[in-house]
Amino acid sequence: MRLVLLGTAAGGGFPQWDCACALCARAGEPGVPARSQDGVAVSADGTDWYLLNASPDLRAQVLATPALRPGPGPRDTPVRGVLLTDGELDHTLGLAILRGAPGLRVWAPGPVAGAFPLRTVIDGYGQWDWRGVDAPVELGGGLEVTAAVISGKRPRYAASAPVGGWVVAYRIHDPATGGTAVYAPCLAEWPDALDGLLPGADVVLLDGTFWTADELPGAAGRAAAPGPGASTPMGHLPVDGPAGSLARIRERPGPRWVYTHLNNTNPLLDAGSTPREQLAAAGATVLDDGTELHI
Ligand code: MLT
Ligand code: MN
Ligand code: ZN
Repeated sequence: MRLVLLGTAAGGGFPQWDCACALCARAGEPGVPARSQDGVAVSADGTDWYLLNASPDLRAQVLATPALRPGPGPRDTPVRGVLLTDGELDHTLGLAILRGAPGLRVWAPGPVAGAFPLRTVIDGYGQWDWRGVDAPVELGGGLEVTAAVISGKRPRYAASAPVGGWVVAYRIHDPATGGTAVYAPCLAEWPDALDGLLPGADVVLLDGTFWTADELPGAAGRAAAPGPGASTPMGHLPVDGPAGSLARIRERPGPRWVYTHLNNTNPLLDAGSTPREQLAAAGATVLDDGTELHI
């Protein structure tokens, strides 16, 4: 399968439009590339493409990705569907950009499909086919997708909605190559359900929002406010620290671990930082927007 990292920043992107922090000021310098908001495109055959999340940056991401160019007919597009991991605005507002796409399939966790406030708006523009993720999904081209609920973090617009399976991770398997990728950009803690997706994974794209648990005070960050329903104060498991995700990765050698959804406060944004060295020592990495992986 081909997997393109369309965007690798958390909500707000990097640099963030209203942030003058030292990191945002350096965005675009060598080793500190600007990053658009998190999302992935995946395809088994290079013909049928599926988006994992739809960020507000989706228009620019599609235009920057040759594989997603429209054609061959004047209104044809290789984009066949969208799989949402959650209902956060940085993962869903791009659906408004796709409005009117005929027959688009959108897979979403049940609570998200029921609560996403733009759904009624978008449904007025085209006949979309909304589907759940409780059962395995087979995508065009033969990709096999399994979802697992990994967090109950509700978007802030749904703060009063019932607790439930708001956030999933996806395991995507290509039977033709035997390759397997896991996408988990919204991880509040490390649940057993995530481990259940990992056997045989070649690549894991993991929530890298924050380096440390105390990164936020005094720093501007779109993802800064505690999310209701979050099981950590931030709703994102930090990378560093004894309980952080990097410690878990060290115990799980095998897949290529790639951090994504980086907040503008995260020192991992700087390729020359000590945290990046620590990442490399653990066998993990951060990749630029536009990187294509063949799995
Ligand atoms: C998150 O990842 O926690 C959200 O994107 C936060 C936000 O929407 O600001
Ligand atoms: Mn986010
Ligand atoms: Zn900043």
